[in-house]
Amino acid sequence: MKIGIIVYSKTGHTFEVAERLAAKLKVAGHEAVLEKILPENESAKGKDLRFANLPETRGYDFLVFGSPVWAFSLCPIMKEYLERSSTIVGSKALAYVTMGFSFPGFGGTHAVRQMTKLITENGGRVIDTAIVGWGGSKREERMEEMLTNFLRTIQA
Ligand SMILES: Cc1cc2nc3c(=O)[nH]c(=O)nc-3n(C[C@H](O)[C@H](O)[C@H](O)COP(=O)(O)O)c2cc1C
Repeated sequence: MKIGIIVYSKTGHTFEVAERLAAKLKVAGHEAVLEKILPENESAKGKDLRFANLPETRGYDFLVFGSPVWAFSLCPIMKEYLERSSTIVGSKALAYVTMGFSFPGFGGTHAVRQMTKLITENGGRVIDTAIVGWGGSKREERMEEMLTNFLRTIQA
């Protein structure tokens, strides 16, 4: 299968998860294409945001979207990207967020709900979501669990 992993990552955490997922997918015999959303002016808001790279969502069997949590919500850059991506039609999708706190209620739960809504509004079908808290001692355990679940879902 050809899997598109589309992420925004400012400090590298969300990208690290994406790289690990891509590596697992490749070992399992899939083609994984890792694409970064690159804003030109990341402090701009809404329609004023410009993108140096606005990854294409067509042509994949499965899409995975990853974003950080900002201010207890979905990072506005991913929000704006998903609002502009009207081509997710028919795609099966997975969505995950990374966050500083280890408690999902401090923005993670809200952020994955926002992602699910935006992807669904664009015609995608969200099969599973995950929240990876970067703080605390259980990060590695949670990340491994999330990666294993995503791989299983993609292969189901
Ligand atoms: C502007 C900003 C706001 C943030 N707000 C939250 C928050 O509300 N809750 C939280 O748990 N972490 C918050 N964080 C931490 C990030 O979500 C966390 O470090 C994430 O893993 C960063 O992902 P990245 O390295 O891919 O950019 C915030 C970080 C930034 C830069």
